[in-house]
Amino acid sequence: MIITFIGHGYVGLVTACVFADLGNTVYVIGRNQDKLKRLSSGDPIIFEPGLQELLKKNLAKKTIHFTTDYSVSIPKSDIVFIAVGTPPNEDGSANTTTVYSVAELIGKHLKKGYTIVSCKSTVPIGTNRKIKKIIDTVKNKDAYIDVVSCPEFLREGTALQDTFTPDRIVIGSDSKKAINILLDLHKPLEGKRVIVGLESAEIIKYASNSLLAAKISFANLISFYCEETGADVLEVLEGVGLDRRIGHRFLQPGIGYGGSCFPKDVKALITMGDALSLDTTFLKAIEKINRDAQTRFISKIKKYVPKGKIALWGLSFKPNTDDVRDSPAFNIINALLYDGYTIQAYDPEAYKNAKRIYKKNKNITFLSSPYDTLNEANGLVICTEWNEFKQIDLQQVKKILKKPIILDGRNIYEPKKMKIRGFTYLSVGRNSV
Ligand code: UGA
Repeated sequence: MIITFIGHGYVGLVTACVFADLGNTVYVIGRNQDKLKRLSSGDPIIFEPGLQELLKKNLAKKTIHFTTDYSVSIPKSDIVFIAVGTPPNEDGSANTTTVYSVAELIGKHLKKGYTIVSCKSTVPIGTNRKIKKIIDTVKNKDAYIDVVSCPEFLREGTALQDTFTPDRIVIGSDSKKAINILLDLHKPLEGKRVIVGLESAEIIKYASNSLLAAKISFANLISFYCEETGADVLEVLEGVGLDRRIGHRFLQPGIGYGGSCFPKDVKALITMGDALSLDTTFLKAIEKINRDAQTRFISKIKKYVPKGKIALWGLSFKPNTDDVRDSPAFNIINALLYDGYTIQAYDPEAYKNAKRIYKKNKNITFLSSPYDTLNEANGLVICTEWNEFKQIDLQQVKKILKKPIILDGRNIYEPKKMKIRGFTYLSVGRNSV
């Protein structure tokens, strides 16, 4: 098939590369010439394991092309995917301005005959019907379309694996013809097919992300109970998660969820609920616990680490990505800077993005080795569970740190072993000093 993707962020670029690799001809439309030039030369711009290789492979096979010009690809496409951002408005609702403006551009460039327009962006309930209306208003009278909501469930850091072997593929549409074409496109991929209506597909996406965020907040809430009572949260959640109805996944306590999806999607679901006069207390509690997890961790740092230099490892919102959007590490950094600490930070991939954000602040420096951050530091704070930190030479860490204090926001070390090594070690939901 000939497919166009509008947008080359995580969802757009990864899915475009995967469909190109499966033998389709794929066009990716963007707005920024510089970025498109980099993409065309094999630089995916974002750090995502395996993506550069897949992009280069498909550029060489000429199955993927990048352009700013809608007239190049829209008229020859069987399917056009919308994969642009829906960032939060000030009130927390999802901003659909770009979705609607690209819908209009698609409409204006449609060929005579049939095209499917499929929305992969996370959009509020009713957006797909509005997309159809916008396109129907501007399109040529010989062109006709069906709209399909095809939400995306890939995670950053494991995006290729998630796209090649998804748990499920959700296809929401009123049109049998469109559903069958989408089923055909997804044929080589694993995963259960879920065929639903447009609104159901839109809600599935928000419900999934909010329930995952709820699991994390629940784990964090239980970690507070453990800290107050002397229980060990990892023992507790191991016992809880073994119930197959519950499971262990997304039950890791820490300094809370971040990233470009969970915080924004929980907020957007709250605003949708408010608009429908529904009780959104449950969703608001998810957010409150997420904030509390960070506040409690910050209090621990301030209590145990004397003012002065402090080392901080992990800037991305999770490992295996350089994405720092809504990273919990930044809330910790901001609180420590406000309190007068001087931070020496390290992250294997995200330091460049973080450096851009803090470029005017002299009280935070970004170093190229985790060990260098420890010089003269009164303690070490860990915000992201990169494998590199799990395999670090702890003897060396202890030797360099001015005071052997570690505040671990992601529970990556064993408290008993850390005590034996002579560290003052505080993690989340496990009492040890
Ligand atoms: C999330 C969803 O997992 C994807 O299914 C979805 O497609 C994506 O949002 C999206 O809407 O585009 P992502 O934000 O890439 O994916 O990352 P996650 O692995 O879900 O992690 C989100 C945050 O939760 C991270 O800050 C992570 O550290 C935190 N987390 C995750 C925990 O604190 N505990 C856990 O047990 C799991």
